[in-house]
Amino acid sequence: MQIIRARDYKDMSRRAAGILAAQIILKPDCVLGLATGSTPIGIYEQLIQWHKDGDLSFSKVRTVNLDEYKGLAPDHEQSYRYFMDEHLFSHVDIDKKGTHTPDGLAEDEAAECARYDGVIRQMNGVDMQLLGLGHNGHIGFNEPAEAFQKGTHCVALTESTIQANSRLFERIEDVPHHAYTMGIGTIMKAKKILLAVSGRDKAKILQEACLGPITPRVPASILQLHPDVTVVGDAEALSSLG
Ligand code: GLP
Repeated sequence: MQIIRARDYKDMSRRAAGILAAQIILKPDCVLGLATGSTPIGIYEQLIQWHKDGDLSFSKVRTVNLDEYKGLAPDHEQSYRYFMDEHLFSHVDIDKKGTHTPDGLAEDEAAECARYDGVIRQMNGVDMQLLGLGHNGHIGFNEPAEAFQKGTHCVALTESTIQANSRLFERIEDVPHHAYTMGIGTIMKAKKILLAVSGRDKAKILQEACLGPITPRVPASILQLHPDVTVVGDAEALSSLG
């Protein structure tokens, strides 16, 4: 696990964006695994800037997102599909047909999970997976559990995740209680993983994930077993790592 120490959110965003940009430059037709949440917004802004400057093209890049709320339509303002369009896809030269998220409106849960795993398989897996970190150690929407889940599955969100994500909804009652997420097995199969973390509120869980026991109670702890993980954190997030 390589740890890159950034000063603050802006610096973290620039450095993480640099790693993603290098991946795109070295392999223009790469498959990126993408994340939502507050953490990657600055990373996407930086990538958009480099695209506008004429230094980065997404024309051959394909993407798979980690997760999607169950029950939200793609044009719902809180859906992760909408998030990705707003924060990245609509501002770069990516072919949106090559960008994938689970279908929050799918009627058959099991069929949707199988379909999404099929999409990832057909792309021959993920070259670089960007991850954020939930306060309880979740990655994607893989919540603390008794066992690591391999493939795409539908999860019941924990109270703390619903609480944390309610800041983006008008009312807490509006936060969906279920979501589709890529499995831990799929995340671990990505050739490279980039974990972006910012803020003091993530320091303790980041320390547990990087140095604590490997356990499905802290889903991100499994990253210790991946051969190519880069953690980009700001000073506050890394403050408990010594
Ligand atoms: C959300 C997302 C995750 C994200 C995490 C942290 O629930 N499903 O993919 O990494 O929470 O979000 P944030 O970056 O806003 O702290």
